[in-house]
Amino acid sequence: MKTLHLAVAGASGQLGTLVVNELIRQRAIHPGMALTAITRTPDRHAAWQEQGIGLRFGDFDQPQDLAAAFHGVERLLLISTNTIDGTGRRLAQHRHAIEAARQAGVGHIVYTSFLRPEEGKRSLLNDDHLATEALLHESGIGHTILRNAFYQDLLLVVLGTAAVDGKLRTAMGQGHVSYVAREDCAHAAAAALADGYLGRRILDITGPAALDAPALAAIAAHLFGQPVQVVDLDAEERARHFIAGGMPAPMAKMLAGIERWLSSDAMHIVSDDYCALTGRQASPVQAFLQAHRRQLLAPTLPPA
Ligand SMILES: NC(=O)c1ccc[n+]([C@@H]2O[C@H](COP(=O)([O-])OP(=O)(O)OC[C@H]3O[C@@H](n4cnc5c(N)ncnc54)[C@H](OP(=O)(O)O)[C@@H]3O)[C@@H](O)[C@H]2O)c1
Repeated sequence: MKTLHLAVAGASGQLGTLVVNELIRQRAIHPGMALTAITRTPDRHAAWQEQGIGLRFGDFDQPQDLAAAFHGVERLLLISTNTIDGTGRRLAQHRHAIEAARQAGVGHIVYTSFLRPEEGKRSLLNDDHLATEALLHESGIGHTILRNAFYQDLLLVVLGTAAVDGKLRTAMGQGHVSYVAREDCAHAAAAALADGYLGRRILDITGPAALDAPALAAIAAHLFGQPVQVVDLDAEERARHFIAGGMPAPMAKMLAGIERWLSSDAMHIVSDDYCALTGRQASPVQAFLQAHRRQLLAPTLPPA
């Protein structure tokens, strides 16, 4: 049986780690996969090496070494970097990776994009993904674009102090969001790498439901065992509230701006692409919040 060489670039991040571990699990069931983890920090992964995972150094800021890092790889997961600084660096990183993959003869790239990037929707979240998708189309390389919804982790910020004072402060207005579990994004990426698909496809990876603020408040109320009331704020008020809670101003303004943008209902998208790709059901928000209940209630817990 021919061995399929899969690689994860960005393997040390939270998503990358989940994908590598999922592929190790799949390899135990379906041998015939060679796995390589490519990262800026290969030294941190002796445990993977012991499990037969190839480890290579790869930094998208150092394009001269990237084609060697991708040598022999047939299917590559390109995880979008977290260099979200508005300087264009992230797009340059992605361009370097795609060009190196072309030079190395990679047959298929799986890219983690963001839900429904569109022309004219100028934002730090959108633009790099839209441009990277275009680079993939131009590259001639077969690809799978996974347009991931917002991670459920963001709910830890969205719900903020709701467990303490029963108020869900938000600038998302009437908008809905189909928050997805990072684990589900990892399952989708692992499945798209391993399934051998050779063409070009775009898949929306969302949670099972699009929730508005009242729905989130109802879930939170059930979890906390007390009423939770929605308090509508505009973007400036929301940013001030984040800052009052200790968040740095640039981050507060960015998150408040994103919440305000959600009020346009642009993220009201629920897809069954995840189910079709993985054969699994996407995990609901309730499960994530239950798993992080302690963290949400932390402000009310006595010091350890
Ligand atoms: N959908 C959402 O709600 C959401 C939320 C946050 C982020 N994201 C996006 O999804 C990506 C993965 O999420 P995550 O939770 O795993 O983020 P994370 O834990 O912050 O991981 C950051 C990722 O960026 C990679 N990276 C950074 N600089 C790089 C460079 N110079 N060259 C190569 N790789 C570089 C890291 O790879 P190594 O450390 O292995 O080199 C790692 O895979 C993020 O990077 C971001 O683009 C999506």
